[in-house]
Amino acid sequence: MRVIVLHTSPNDDGLTASLAEAAVAGANAAGAEAEMVKLTALDIPSCRQCNNGWGMCRTEGRCGYSDDFNPLREKLWAADAWVLVTPVYFGEPSEIAKSFMDRLRRCNVGAKGEGLAEKPVIGVAAAGGSGRGTATCLLALDRFYGHINAQVADLITVTRRSAEYKREAVRAAAQAMVEAMQA
Ligand SMILES: Cc1cc2nc3c(=O)[nH]c(=O)nc-3n(C[C@H](O)[C@H](O)[C@H](O)COP(=O)(O)O)c2cc1C
Repeated sequence: MRVIVLHTSPNDDGLTASLAEAAVAGANAAGAEAEMVKLTALDIPSCRQCNNGWGMCRTEGRCGYSDDFNPLREKLWAADAWVLVTPVYFGEPSEIAKSFMDRLRRCNVGAKGEGLAEKPVIGVAAAGGSGRGTATCLLALDRFYGHINAQVADLITVTRRSAEYKREAVRAAAQAMVEAMQA
């Protein structure tokens, strides 16, 4: 069973990274092969809104641009489940997370249910500052998962103050998600 964990902060040693590592550990503990992908290391610019607003995302379920988006989309399509961990920026997901989510939900329209629909997911919003904006960030992930018809295993907020016990919750959620698929 393959699980992809998307890490969408530029920091390798911060809160987001530690939560992504916890998700990998949980999925692996249940016997999955989990892989962390750091999106800021990839070239995924925002959607160019082709033509009148729709491009081949609508007709073919893939993006017409040759950057790192399509290979990552294919990786998710091939996975059994996936996790998105984002830092909270201004009460929203990080820019790279938004760029990827925007392009992915468009492709889901053209894919007509192929690839991502009914696939188990976990969303994690990590607010390393004041802790404000975790709920609105998580709401954006919830809306996005609705757009791609995902099966939400869990949506988790984390702040600096809750990090210690929520890290364990993220690990447990990833483990439980994989175990539920095996049942
Ligand atoms: C542009 C920007 C906006 C931010 N907005 C918020 C916010 O709305 N709420 C909050 O608690 N923290 C906010 N932070 C702090 C980040 O959530 C925190 O720095 C982040 O979790 C730390 O990065 P890391 O997860 O890579 O360690 C912001 C940080 C940046 C860079």
